[in-house]
Amino acid sequence: MLRLFPDLSDDLLKRLYHKGAHAHWTSEDIDWDAPVSLDDRGGLALARVLSPVYLGEQSAMIGAANVLPQLAMAGESTAQLYLTTFIGDEARHFEVLTRLYHRLGHEPVSIRALPAMLRYHHRLRQGDRIDWVWGILISDLFAKNFYQMFAHEQQNQLFGTMSQRILVDESRHQAFCDHYLTQAMPHLGPERRKALRTMRDELLDIMEDMQTVLGEDAEVLGFHGQDMLDRVMADVAAHAHRIGLDDDPPPSGGRRRPPREAVDLAARRRLKAQEGAQGPLQSLETQECDCGVCPIAAICQSRIVRRAVAR
Ligand SMILES: [Fe+2]
Ligand SMILES: [Fe+2]
Repeated sequence: MLRLFPDLSDDLLKRLYHKGAHAHWTSEDIDWDAPVSLDDRGGLALARVLSPVYLGEQSAMIGAANVLPQLAMAGESTAQLYLTTFIGDEARHFEVLTRLYHRLGHEPVSIRALPAMLRYHHRLRQGDRIDWVWGILISDLFAKNFYQMFAHEQQNQLFGTMSQRILVDESRHQAFCDHYLTQAMPHLGPERRKALRTMRDELLDIMEDMQTVLGEDAEVLGFHGQDMLDRVMADVAAHAHRIGLDDDPPPSGGRRRPPREAVDLAARRRLKAQEGAQGPLQSLETQECDCGVCPIAAICQSRIVRRAVAR
């Protein structure tokens, strides 16, 4: 219920809101004369590997706007305040990356060439505000590892300096997600937690799909996509333990993917039905539970993906 005069307690989320409000910057604060130092193939490779992150920035901005009323109705007033700065953060990431694409002279990979991007965006939109925050945490950990490579390797170049700025914003996003989910977790039952772990598996599967397509471009830029994904997965496992989703701590020193949740095929079918999917159902029953294809197949048959692919 919407409250006219809510208690805005002085909690971590309000402090993050203050930090975010003081930290605003725009594309006008970027030194666009800084060198890119990539040849045309390198520029194309950057444009391509950046594409999922670029869509992720837009997806986060749109999703936050969608979740904000849910926070208000739940009386989570300081989270609601904080999210306004989150939207601003993602808006400027979207803006500066758009301008970077113009500077590179290349466009992002199309949805048709990389439909996994749309599946990822679609998966983030499912569920309630807790699902969304969990998905955003996973996305932010992907973005963090991506930007960190360039912030480190291209310190004095355009994308490197841009990445350093974006990383400061992303650290606030992770702090928010960790805090919000840690508070929420004790109130979630076993099935709800299981659904969150399944969502994690699905998002990581889609990331692997994207990496398969973009692996050659990553090599052009001097990094191995699977190494980066390993770091993302280790981060996700660490955060899942930190927020109380996974009881067991991740193995020390490893870059291990979190153990997969057993797939609930009936739940998958219900999910597919909710999505209003049309056309023949993928034969979910005949697939191996741990094949890594099932959730993708379930989603990629959806009308929105088929329409995009046919474009
Ligand atoms: Fe961002
Ligand atoms: Fe973010």
